Amino acid sequence: MTETGDEKQSHSFPAGIVGVELGQVVRQIAVGEPPPLPPNAELAVIGKPAARHDGRAKVTGGCRFTVDVVLPGMLYGRILRAGVPHATVRAIDMSAAAHHPGVRAVVTIAEAGNPLSGVLRYVGSPLAAVAASSPDAAQEALRLIRVDYEPLPFVVDLDEARKPSAPRVYDEATAPQGSPSGYPAPAGLPLQGNVRGPAIVRRGDIAQGLAQAEVQFEGEYRTQVQTHCCLEPHAIVADWRSDGLTVYMSTQYTAGVRHELAETFGLPLSRVRVIVEGMGGGFGSKSTLGTYGRLAVMLSREARAPVRIVLDRHEEQIDSGNRPATWQRLRLGARRDGSLTAISLVSYGTAGIALGAGVWSFAESLYRCPNFEGAQHDVFTNAGPGCAMRAPGAVPGAWGLEQAIDELAERLALDPLELRDRIDPSPVRREERRLGAARIGWNHRHAPGADRGSVKRGVGVAQSFWMANVQTNAACEVRILRDGSVEVRSGVQDIGTGTGTVMAQAVGEVLGLPASAITVRIGDTEFPAGPPSYGSRATASITPPARTAAWRVLQALLREVAPALKASATELVARDGRIFVGTDANRSMTFAEAAARLRTDALSAVASRADDYGGFRRRMGDAAIAQLDLGGVQFAAVAVDTDTGVIQVERVVAVQDCGRPINPRQLESQVQGGVLMGMSFALLEERILDRQTGRMVNPNLEQYKLAGACEAPDIEVIVLEHYQGMSATDAYGIAEPSNIATAPAIGNAVYNALGVRIRTLPMTPAAVLTALGRVGA
Ligand code: MOS
Repeated sequence: MTETGDEKQSHSFPAGIVGVELGQVVRQIAVGEPPPLPPNAELAVIGKPAARHDGRAKVTGGCRFTVDVVLPGMLYGRILRAGVPHATVRAIDMSAAAHHPGVRAVVTIAEAGNPLSGVLRYVGSPLAAVAASSPDAAQEALRLIRVDYEPLPFVVDLDEARKPSAPRVYDEATAPQGSPSGYPAPAGLPLQGNVRGPAIVRRGDIAQGLAQAEVQFEGEYRTQVQTHCCLEPHAIVADWRSDGLTVYMSTQYTAGVRHELAETFGLPLSRVRVIVEGMGGGFGSKSTLGTYGRLAVMLSREARAPVRIVLDRHEEQIDSGNRPATWQRLRLGARRDGSLTAISLVSYGTAGIALGAGVWSFAESLYRCPNFEGAQHDVFTNAGPGCAMRAPGAVPGAWGLEQAIDELAERLALDPLELRDRIDPSPVRREERRLGAARIGWNHRHAPGADRGSVKRGVGVAQSFWMANVQTNAACEVRILRDGSVEVRSGVQDIGTGTGTVMAQAVGEVLGLPASAITVRIGDTEFPAGPPSYGSRATASITPPARTAAWRVLQALLREVAPALKASATELVARDGRIFVGTDANRSMTFAEAAARLRTDALSAVASRADDYGGFRRRMGDAAIAQLDLGGVQFAAVAVDTDTGVIQVERVVAVQDCGRPINPRQLESQVQGGVLMGMSFALLEERILDRQTGRMVNPNLEQYKLAGACEAPDIEVIVLEHYQGMSATDAYGIAEPSNIATAPAIGNAVYNALGVRIRTLPMTPAAVLTALGRVGA
């Protein structure tokens, strides 16, 4: 089938939301793309709860993670890290380490091309690395490295760092401009002291909006640093050989890391291969090669042997990225009927030595309001760099805005859902509010602090929106082999969400085979380049080309077998493991019989992600934003023990949308993960830095508290079918959206329980008791 850019097919798509009829929409599809899918109820594989293709392997230890990769002659790399938060490095002496028995290669950070290598700016920043024949020898060698440094004054606290008298983390020449961390941080903003910004966004006239307000609310909200705690640590095995470089790496983006490696080491792309099989999460922290990755490759090149670097939990906590801390002040103005006249936002956040600590555009965009003004600032501190983390900016942004909206509702004497019905333009979230409210029992919600006993219960709600991201540089190959087996192949990795399984479903639906019949080969740059597993874009980017490639290869198969069925290829249908002539049950052959007629051992088709049929709202190179937003409404029910200050989240109802759901079971699992992570953020997690030494005092998983089974609430997940008719699968992401509304829903529920508002995270027992006036503030 040839594609000519101009030719289009016109199709009617089912459009609408569960319970809300939006009617039919017409979209134009390029020739060479499959026809639109009907609603899930009419499909056999898509929309059904398929088991993960690698589920059994994962639970029986058969799945190979990067930490499991062992190559012949492999060496063990370790990184020396700074123990002081700010210093000038005068010299690093590697000679004793290099001569230690078993050491095969040494490298300093300056040799790794780090432009900031002359100055240490945070505890944990990498200084040098060694590779040795055993982990112990590598560790011993680190102790033999001599670092001559001159300590400098430092600051690790957001509020302190804002003061004009604070020690400077950077000067004008060294301070980063844009964001290295994947955040949308505008470049070219002024630097004053440690403060970069403000990034200003204006709409309408804020002064006029406030003047028109009949009711105003102003509140300040704070969020803490949440560290990246992937179950699987950052890990790489680099194998430099004379004929090319192979890297096994726990990465969210095989194709991107391949590009970075080729550029960094001056190799053609054809000589660089990146492989990842199992992954235990990434959440934004495994998006790039990283310094540890570069060091591993340099050590391998020097030692002429494979080198493995696996960060230990301490390194993970201090130098694998984190969600920046934020402070924000929101001022809302409204008329008595609830309609918003003004939203003003000022924020200061710190991503340590990096940029990207904004609170995103939540306040600007979630609700209808003609007058908005936002001023966001980044504050540098001598702390490990923040990086993208599951809905970056939106999570702290929602903590502020979604509580402020509740606080405004109370001043307006409106039910929080009623106010949202009046100011939220999204029909999708309206439906989500309706479904969730019924499920949580919103009608039984009492007035704030109404419970008499020492344990007080409350219910709260909060909302989210997120971008429907797509990457068009995303390709997939589908192969039918002569024995009737089928492979789907792509460089795309599975971060742990089940990407391979949704691809198998898209392929199986086309070929009339169950998802389990499709062999999934992904996570290897030998296959067509796949999209990244970040920005909630993997499913949206890779399932359409998977379906398209399957559709194209099926057309080729049907052409080959049509004569045997005495029919034309266009009359043939693949269904239930057979090829039928139309609906005639008597004229068919099995899929395997059809494949046996192939003239070659395999038939293959490759497809890449076509543009969304409705076009994109925004494009940035390979990435694009679809013309829809992803929503979500979450309800939390909490019990607060006013004697101990312990908050137990008893129930969460999460109502989310993601276009067409492909695998309800995986979606539910993903949303549960988002809720648990949001709850953990709300109640438990916090990086604590010692102001005297700049060190993290809880750099492990004992003192850095993550939610476990004891804290887990009952989580009820409702995923809407929200057909938009935008791509071959019409599927979009859910990973980030499901993490946004949880903390403010819990915050609003805690207020409903206590009648006292907590505006600073995490809501620890001490914070609750302080808010209740039970302990000295
Ligand atoms: Mo994510 S924070 O886009 O992995």
